[in-house]
Amino acid sequence: MTRRTAEHRLPGDPTPRQYVERVIRVDHAGEYGAKRIYQGQLAVLGRTKYGPTIRHMQQQEQVHLDTFSRLIAERRVRPTALLPVWHVAGFALGAATALLGHRAAMACTVAVEEAIDEHYQAQEAALGEDEKPLRAHVEKFRAEELEHRDIGLANEAEQAPAYRLLSAAIKAGCKVAIKVSERI
Ligand SMILES: [Fe+2]
Ligand SMILES: [Fe+2]
Repeated sequence: MTRRTAEHRLPGDPTPRQYVERVIRVDHAGEYGAKRIYQGQLAVLGRTKYGPTIRHMQQQEQVHLDTFSRLIAERRVRPTALLPVWHVAGFALGAATALLGHRAAMACTVAVEEAIDEHYQAQEAALGEDEKPLRAHVEKFRAEELEHRDIGLANEAEQAPAYRLLSAAIKAGCKVAIKVSERI
């Protein structure tokens, strides 16, 4: 028996087609935001010893973003109307945490990537054999997001000032961003 996309849907849940459109819309938004976060970090920390590490993550986010931009066009999905918001908010989050120091910047990375890991895991569970290529992208990107989280942890994220509070606040923000970007 092959698994189909969104096969466990309940009355009122999106249809498989709506579900896939939401996946592409929200992932495109998320990767766009991720790229902007790293750009914000680079504006502050680009010339420090953390520059190359952050640039490596930003380049991977660019590949993620390019993939979802292509899918938006190919599958004629309307992008979120909130891209201008994520343009500013992503950069601001990256720059603001970086201004607190490299540890806070890395704590931001860990929080964001953990939120994205959960989000991508849920998609992997819901995307069926009929959406194999899309699921493969999500799987590959999730592995890279986990690599980013590990980079953050290896660079003293947990020693950031008020780590727990900072992390919880950023994760909560990500969850809101995900919810609204699915629909709007
Ligand atoms: Fe990404
Ligand atoms: Fe990432």
